[in-house]
Amino acid sequence: LYEIVPGLPAGEALDLQNAAEALGLNVQVKGTGNLSLLHGLDVVIVTAGFGRTPGMSRMDLLNKNLPIIEGIAREYAGGDGGTVFIIVTNPVDVLTYVFWRRSGVERHRVAGLSGVLDSSRLKTIMRSRGIRVSGLSSLVLGEHGENMVILRNRIREEYGLNDTELDTVQSETVKAAAEIISMKGATVHGPGASIARMVKAVLSDSREILPASAVLNGEYGIRNVCLGVPVEPGRNGFRIVQEKLGENEESLLRKAAENVSKALEQIGYG
Ligand code: LAC
Repeated sequence: LYEIVPGLPAGEALDLQNAAEALGLNVQVKGTGNLSLLHGLDVVIVTAGFGRTPGMSRMDLLNKNLPIIEGIAREYAGGDGGTVFIIVTNPVDVLTYVFWRRSGVERHRVAGLSGVLDSSRLKTIMRSRGIRVSGLSSLVLGEHGENMVILRNRIREEYGLNDTELDTVQSETVKAAAEIISMKGATVHGPGASIARMVKAVLSDSREILPASAVLNGEYGIRNVCLGVPVEPGRNGFRIVQEKLGENEESLLRKAAENVSKALEQIGYG
């Protein structure tokens, strides 16, 4: 655990170590305020930065979180020794791209948390409407933000929703995090479990397909941005999977790319 607040990483580490012992896990938790100690790891998860307050969009965090991500990325500029990076800090699609450009790590070794969490939220909403949901499938691609791309055809096929139901589920999924933030100040367990899900897929080399924000270089006809697409996580990072999408889904994906691209241009990463 790395954290800039003095004393906090050591305290968190001890607390988590207690938790690990209670669960009978044979692990060692360490905390540090020295970023240079985080080299040579299998996976690094970057959650550093400010969270949203009620009424803010993820994009509103860009200027505050940009220097934080640039600072961490700079630490890895000399090479990362095979680490796989999962970026969580918002706006995640923009900052995953910034992290990749600044650090220079191989493109397939970086991805942002997005679709696993968004698909889980979509399922939460369907479940609350009495729909029987099961397993984890990739139902949301695109931007982790206003331009989420909900795979309506897939949802229609898997769950039999009609267009009106799809409209409702879609708009509720886009607002799902803001709703939690308005009630409890931050989202915690959903992101935590979604990150754990991605880490497990990386470390177990399971070759299952999950959605995540990947650095695109022509896949889906998009380049020079990060965006949620299906990926195959493994020990070497994230292999982008090119699935056949509907025409409308492809055009929504391009619209999402334009939004991320616009933000990148504004901060000099165009
Ligand atoms: C959320 C943050 C992690 O959606 O973006 O909860």
